[in-house]
Amino acid sequence: MRLHLPYRIYFFWGLWPHWILCTSSTNKCTVRHEEADCSHLKLTEIPNDLPVNITTLNLSHNQLRRLPPANFTRYNQLTILDGGFNSISKFEPELCQNLPWLKILNLQHNELSHVSDTTFAFCLNLTELHLRSNSIQKIENNPFKNQKNLIVLDLSHNGLSSTKLGTHLQLENLQELILSNNKIRALRSEEFDFLGNSSLQKLELSSNQIKEFSPGCFHAIGKLFGLSLNNVQLGPSLTEKLCLELSSTSIQNLSLSNIQLYRTSNMTFSGLQQTNLTMLNLSHNNLNVMGNNSFVWLSHLKYFFLEYNNIQHLSSHSFYGLSNVRYLNLKRSFTKQGISLASLPQIDDFSFQWLKCLEYLNMEDNNLPGIKSNMFTGLVNLRYLILSNSFTSLQTLTNETFSSLAHSPLLLFNLTKNKISKIESGAFSWLGHLKVLDLGLNEIGQELTGQEWRGLENIYEIYLSYNKYLQLTSNSFALVPSLQRLMLRRVALRNLENSPSPFSPLHNLTILDLSNNNIANINDELLKGLEKLEILDLQHNNLARLWKHANPGGPVHFLKGLSHLHILNLESNGFDEIPVKVFKDLFELKSINLGLNNLNVLPPSVFDDQVSLKFLNLQKNLITSVEKNVFGPVFKNLSDLDMSFNPFDCTCESIAWFVNWINQTHTNISELSRHYLCNTPPQYHGFPVMLFDTSSCKDSAPFELLFMISTSMILIFIIVVLLIHLEGWRISFYWNVSVHRVLGFKEIDGQSEKFEYTAYIIHAHKDRDWVWEHFSSMEEKDQSLKFCLEERDFEAGVLGLEAIVNSIKRSRKIIFVITQHLLKDPLCKRFKVHHAVQQAIEQNLDSIILIFLEEIPDYKLNHALCLRRGMFKSHCILNWPVQRERINAFHHKLQVALGSRNLVH
Ligand SMILES: *[C@@H]1O[C@H](CO)[C@@H](O)[C@H](O)[C@H]1NC(C)=O
Ligand SMILES: *[C@@H]1O[C@H](CO)[C@@H](O)[C@H](O)[C@H]1NC(C)=O
Ligand SMILES: *[C@@H]1O[C@H](CO)[C@@H](O)[C@H](O)[C@H]1NC(C)=O
Ligand SMILES: *[C@@H]1O[C@H](CO)[C@@H](O)[C@H](O)[C@H]1NC(C)=O
Ligand SMILES: *[C@@H]1O[C@H](CO)[C@@H](O)[C@H](O)[C@H]1NC(C)=O
Ligand SMILES: *[C@@H]1O[C@H](CO)[C@@H](O)[C@H](O)[C@H]1NC(C)=O
Ligand SMILES: *[C@@H]1O[C@H](CO)[C@@H](O)[C@H](O)[C@H]1NC(C)=O
Ligand SMILES: *[C@@H]1O[C@H](CO)[C@@H](O)[C@H](O)[C@H]1NC(C)=O
Repeated sequence: MRLHLPYRIYFFWGLWPHWILCTSSTNKCTVRHEEADCSHLKLTEIPNDLPVNITTLNLSHNQLRRLPPANFTRYNQLTILDGGFNSISKFEPELCQNLPWLKILNLQHNELSHVSDTTFAFCLNLTELHLRSNSIQKIENNPFKNQKNLIVLDLSHNGLSSTKLGTHLQLENLQELILSNNKIRALRSEEFDFLGNSSLQKLELSSNQIKEFSPGCFHAIGKLFGLSLNNVQLGPSLTEKLCLELSSTSIQNLSLSNIQLYRTSNMTFSGLQQTNLTMLNLSHNNLNVMGNNSFVWLSHLKYFFLEYNNIQHLSSHSFYGLSNVRYLNLKRSFTKQGISLASLPQIDDFSFQWLKCLEYLNMEDNNLPGIKSNMFTGLVNLRYLILSNSFTSLQTLTNETFSSLAHSPLLLFNLTKNKISKIESGAFSWLGHLKVLDLGLNEIGQELTGQEWRGLENIYEIYLSYNKYLQLTSNSFALVPSLQRLMLRRVALRNLENSPSPFSPLHNLTILDLSNNNIANINDELLKGLEKLEILDLQHNNLARLWKHANPGGPVHFLKGLSHLHILNLESNGFDEIPVKVFKDLFELKSINLGLNNLNVLPPSVFDDQVSLKFLNLQKNLITSVEKNVFGPVFKNLSDLDMSFNPFDCTCESIAWFVNWINQTHTNISELSRHYLCNTPPQYHGFPVMLFDTSSCKDSAPFELLFMISTSMILIFIIVVLLIHLEGWRISFYWNVSVHRVLGFKEIDGQSEKFEYTAYIIHAHKDRDWVWEHFSSMEEKDQSLKFCLEERDFEAGVLGLEAIVNSIKRSRKIIFVITQHLLKDPLCKRFKVHHAVQQAIEQNLDSIILIFLEEIPDYKLNHALCLRRGMFKSHCILNWPVQRERINAFHHKLQVALGSRNLVH
């Protein structure tokens, strides 16, 4: 075994500078297509060796102080120049002269303090100019007057005290003006005059200290569609003033997040009556009191954001007039304070009745006391209702709980985290359109009779994971055959071994999650008929027993017939055995996770049907060897393999094929060098598997001598121990043989005249016909042969033991006719065989010939007769041929065996 690591490192260091030289000589910019990225390189100078045809140059995050125009003449094709995050304090007008195509100029986070009429005078084609985070305090005259194509102008995070960027009309194509985080205290109409011809999609004025809106300020702007004033401390009265100023503008999107609007009245938004406002953001306002009819003016509103407020009471007229709202976000909108019932937020019946167009309602993370009988009445277009963690405790869902949703065409209903403990029969019977029902993370503990789901005729997904316990019956899902996804993770599932299976009505099921349930008892019917199942999650259960050979009734093939399965997760089940046919016919499997089990040896061919597998996870098992006959087929199309943290045995037999495969595969194997380590042999414990040198598996090179000497001692020891353990019989057998030799038993072959018979035939009584027929016919053909047949050569068939011993002694060879009968024949077992072997040891081993009339495994032979094939020369072991035409060849072999000299070579 050779470790290459030091060589590889050296190789890399040697190669590195060469590679640099080949691409560019002095800097480390990366150039792809026509884009050069020179960011984060501590540059103090403009690189002068980039391709001249680049169109994008990123110089951000360096230490540049200037952008000298002359140094850019080379790159006159540039359309995008990013000089952000440097120390540039002056922008030279000639730069734009040299870059006539420049469209996007980014100078954010620099030290520009002054822009004059000439600064950008030649930047005629600019569409975006980013000057965020400089120190521009004041704009004088008209520095942007030539930017007729400018669409985005970002001047946020400077020190500007006014919105005035010019003295006469300009920027007629501007769409976004970003002035947030400046020091603007007032919005005055004359300071917006320069935008008189513009139509702004977005005027961003957030995080200023605006205290004043002078009359007509927004009307000075040609058209204003979007305004953000987030984080401006307006309070209720300035907000009212703002809305009056917005009256009759084209405002559509108004964002007023975190403006300390702690109450609204029927006058707050009155100014917006004459607008077509479609989006209003009032989130993060600590809004506590929402007066009746506050939003009556907003009849065009479609998107309403009210999350993160402190609303105490929603009355039946709070939302009056919001007849066009489609989206309403009330996440954490209601007060959280107090635990007593009196201080809980209150939602009156019929509060939502005005929201006829509402499709999406999010009320998650509130602290509502419960559901009243008319809470949601009137939401006739509601499709998505999120009530996750909305209630202090819902406990039992009765057939009345959701009656106020009877006329809502709900598609998705999220009820997670509400401390629901029981679902009564018909609880969802109002929701015939529902497709997705999320009941996860509650405290449901009950038997599912199936009536719980009555009326869910279109249901597609039920999520029940993370509840207290669920006891199933055969009917649990009988009323929802349309179900395609069923999530039952960590619900202490009980009674899965019902017959018929609880899942048997779900023919369209594609995803089934049964993980984390400690399931130990299932039968092979559980998933029967789920032919469309694509994803099956069974991780973190206790299924190990089902796959054991020793399981009463054999291994349980619970995956049988899942022919469309794509993803199978069996992680952490304690599996230590896999039946060889368990994945058979799962041709479409793309991913198998068998991680965190106790697998050591996988049966050959177990993955043979998984030809399209992409992901295989076997991490943290007890796998020592990775062999071709198990993994060859499945590794072919694999895109990701995880076998990390297995105790690999780094020997040629166990790992060489794997290492060779790793070296030529395109499969992703992450952390190969850190998490694939040798466990054995001891001296390589902890070494990366990938450094195992497979060339040593073919020839042993001289440099390995040292290693070989040191290991051979251990190996010899192991071999001896193993030999004694496995082949002890052979040792004692040959020991016997040798002892007899040494004690002077002579080779008796020379005195063949002493023998009366060519061979003595030992056979079972039941096989006598066969023996008679074949051996007597051989004698007829060849006169020199004379067999001792018990039936014929003993007087009147008397089988005196002494006669047998004498006859055996007088035979040159002993033939065993081995059949199942012989193994059972008591006389043969006890006496004849023992004696024959004894004689063979004295005489020598070639004197015994075994003829197998049928296939008998070696262990049976050993068990019944204390014989093993390994004790005899191969030419002394003959098999009676099945095919007639081979009988001649058999006779020939037998003659060879009979004629062979009795010798131990
Ligand atoms: C501009 O180019 C000149 C001449 O090549 C060079 O001396 C100078 O350092 C460059 N300046 C910058 C800021 O790159
Ligand atoms: C840009 O120049 C490089 C060589 O400097 C050349 O490989 C590439 O094809 C050129 N691209 C175009 C669009 O001309
Ligand atoms: C750039 O501006 C010049 C002068 O206004 C004009 O002729 C040219 O067409 C513009 N190029 C692009 C790509 O807009
Ligand atoms: C509101 O929309 C209508 C129809 O789209 C339009 O006629 C009207 O001028 C718009 N009002 C404002 C203030 O933009
Ligand atoms: C606003 O509410 C007050 C009472 O709170 C009421 O007197 C007034 O008429 C209401 N105004 C409108 C326009 O509804
Ligand atoms: C609700 O269940 C009760 C019995 O539990 C029954 O009397 C009542 O009719 C059911 N109501 C509806 C609307 O199904
Ligand atoms: C239900 O809401 C919870 C919490 O926001 C979320 O994690 C879950 O994904 C939602 N369920 C569905 C089906 O959207
Ligand atoms: C199962 O799916 C098929 C094909 O999409 C559909 O025709 C059938 O109606 C579905 N069965 C049920 C019970 O929804």
